[in-house]
Amino acid sequence: TNQSLANVGVIGMAVMGSNLARNLARNGYAVAVYNRTTSKTDAVIAEHGHEGDFRPSAELADFVASLERPRRIIIMVKAGRGTDATIDSLIPLLEEGDIVVDGGNAKFQDTRRREEKLRGLGLHFVGAGISGGEVGALEGPSIMPGGSVESYQALGPILEKISAKVDGEPCATYIGTDGAGHFVKMVHNGIEYADMQFIGEAYVLLKALGLNHTEMADTFATWNTGDLDSYLIEITSEVLRKVDEKTGQPLVDVIVDAAGMKGTGTWTVQAALDLGTPVNTIAESVFARAVSSHPELRAASQQALSGPDGTFQVADRDAFIDAIRQALWASKVVAYAQGLDEIRQAGVEYGWDINVAEVAKIWRAGCIIRAKLLERIRSEYAAGNLVTLLEAPSVAADLAAAQDGWREVIATAVRAGVPVPGFSAALAHYDQARAPRLNASLTQGLRDYFGAHTYRRTDAEGTFHTNWSTDG
Ligand code: ATR
Repeated sequence: TNQSLANVGVIGMAVMGSNLARNLARNGYAVAVYNRTTSKTDAVIAEHGHEGDFRPSAELADFVASLERPRRIIIMVKAGRGTDATIDSLIPLLEEGDIVVDGGNAKFQDTRRREEKLRGLGLHFVGAGISGGEVGALEGPSIMPGGSVESYQALGPILEKISAKVDGEPCATYIGTDGAGHFVKMVHNGIEYADMQFIGEAYVLLKALGLNHTEMADTFATWNTGDLDSYLIEITSEVLRKVDEKTGQPLVDVIVDAAGMKGTGTWTVQAALDLGTPVNTIAESVFARAVSSHPELRAASQQALSGPDGTFQVADRDAFIDAIRQALWASKVVAYAQGLDEIRQAGVEYGWDINVAEVAKIWRAGCIIRAKLLERIRSEYAAGNLVTLLEAPSVAADLAAAQDGWREVIATAVRAGVPVPGFSAALAHYDQARAPRLNASLTQGLRDYFGAHTYRRTDAEGTFHTNWSTDG
């Protein structure tokens, strides 16, 4: 039979790729599917073929030939060499104007390189960040596509259709050229690291206060009904409530205390270092995972280092629990401000015309950091030309209201020997950012002393050098 052509194709039938293909099919698209190992394609069709109009191919050439033009091909394979290998085998089969989408967690520098190469061949390359895990891929993720404006005209309607929705509005929008989409996805993950670090610090403090796991779970569930309303707070409550079937203990107490990571948090910090943008909350969160995962350092330090034992007393337990909530909220606001500022600075550096309000908008649902706070962030950025989220009047007022509790929590933790690097980094940033003078003038004096690096004066234009040595 002379079948019509497929609307869109997906390469890679592992979990993310097959779920994205099913999402497309469920939304009424005819979806061409291909996997290097054909048995995976067959398994997906056997299990889910009834869900929609799938067009499986065993050969890549047949897959390409089964697509309407301009072809829209979404690659969902192992990031790195898998992506390059797939692109290289596609290139000879494609025609001018076809659109190749990388939906994996690529480094934005790789995306810039690939985009440049395909652009030179008359092809469009779109680096699309996709967040939401396997459930999001199937039911509606947050999608952050970067590439040519022209490619978005052909691709955008499909991505918007399959994305998560907030009041009918899609959590997918055009981000900017070349690596912009993967950059934004990278920072999304960096913020996710900070969110999780803050939640972890709140958990340790609640535990030190003497709450049992049910009480902690209830506390997070209550917080989830207010300003902190978010996916990560919601699932924290569920994780704390889980009892291990084998031991009858809270499962979280049975899990080895060493956090893993796949790299996007590290990339976020590396990119920020290159841009000179402060993201100390995200950096501390990456380093906190690093400390947790060095058993030899922890064992040696546990033997050698003395200090308070991590317990403390408070006069009013409920008031202190609420102060922890304030510390968590305020720190979260600082982390979002830092991440969005990194995105804004990257836009300037790489020539992306990124609309920060739109970024906050498509993070409101579908993705891991989805939170009630993001609607507020969206409206603050949309309303004013903000240098930083922290200056928005309503945000500044709420941070002012939260700061007594925030400071009290950190001071108590420091005295008791409970590490709170995330909360502390966030507060340090808050106090640095609002300080009329920092310690930089002395730094400049020292630099001029030993290296004649010169300094500027508060009362005159130009650069100055002093002969600092008084014995000369
Ligand atoms: P998982 O997500 O299940 O851990 P993975 O190793 O990350 O699996 O691979 C995900 C997808 O990338 C698979 O579809 C895989 O194809 P195979 O099923 O044939 O292994 C695909 N993939 C990985 N490396 C690839 C490569 N070099 N070329 C093409 N596809 C590749």
